[in-house]
Amino acid sequence: MKKVTKAIIPAAGLGTRFLPATKAMPKEMLPILDKPTIQYIVEEAIESGVEDIIVVTGKGKRAIEDHFDIAFELEHTLEAKGKFEILEKVRKSSNVNLHYIRQKEPKGLGHAVWCARNFIGNEPFAVLLGDDIVEADVPCTKQLIEQYERTGRSVIGVQMVGVDQTHRYGIVDPGERVDNLYEVNRFVEKPPQGQAPSNLAIMGRYVLTPDIFDYLGQHELGAGGEIQLTDAIQKLNMDQGVYAFDFQGIRYDVGEKLGFIMTTIDFALRNKELRHPLMTGIEELMERELRKQILVGRGEKV
Ligand code: UTP
Repeated sequence: MKKVTKAIIPAAGLGTRFLPATKAMPKEMLPILDKPTIQYIVEEAIESGVEDIIVVTGKGKRAIEDHFDIAFELEHTLEAKGKFEILEKVRKSSNVNLHYIRQKEPKGLGHAVWCARNFIGNEPFAVLLGDDIVEADVPCTKQLIEQYERTGRSVIGVQMVGVDQTHRYGIVDPGERVDNLYEVNRFVEKPPQGQAPSNLAIMGRYVLTPDIFDYLGQHELGAGGEIQLTDAIQKLNMDQGVYAFDFQGIRYDVGEKLGFIMTTIDFALRNKELRHPLMTGIEELMERELRKQILVGRGEKV
């Protein structure tokens, strides 16, 4: 069996949920504390044993390439000023071997993955989406690779979501289960509310066999008029069986505003320097809000 050594990070979407912030800056460069979201994803891939990463970029995504490039002037200045701790952090982002390919039009996630087919060739590979950051004892992608190595089949990372959230995700109709590994009857992309076959949702981590490109190459349009990766996975599932794996770890949804803010707060609360001032700040904000609500309740002006 061929080992999984390559990964695709699709990053060519328009990021409309964060406009206007993403008008000139890729959403993948929005930081959680001091690190762009895409760097968390790249680090997960490397910690999972991936050796070559291809980032699918599009218009206005130059900042991603600059971020992972060497910044001679900046490094020199930091060194001269003795700011070695920051220098170390800056160097970490240029120490990885990334490749880039452009998706000329954002025709959907499935199309973005298809754009990287020549780089992948005839090997199994991982896909990591920047919308989800996963904190886990064993990196999420590594967990999926382990399942792939055990079964020889494509494995999709899933976790439970609330029933009111299923319409936002690709959803799995699960079959037989052994521990956290499910056979899958059907994958459905963003089912209308109330029609989801379960609340097991696809979480932006995949290990796929290269046969997926046969289906992506059909360029069939799915939900939202886009070429959907989930639709191709469903076809692959009918052909050779695809597993869903309920991975261990906390998953942070950074692809939409509320999730992004909650993630930032959670990460800040676990940061030594920020924890206490942040807690004091939140307390003050909450008190101010409560006072406002009391005044509104009394019909007074705020
Ligand atoms: P999303 O739908 O979450 O990203 O796609 P988006 O389109 O950028 O965001 P919104 O919905 O407009 O706010 C999931 C991932 O797939 C990539 C995105 O960059 C994101 O990482 N993607 C999506 C592509 O690379 N190409 C596409 O055509 C669509």
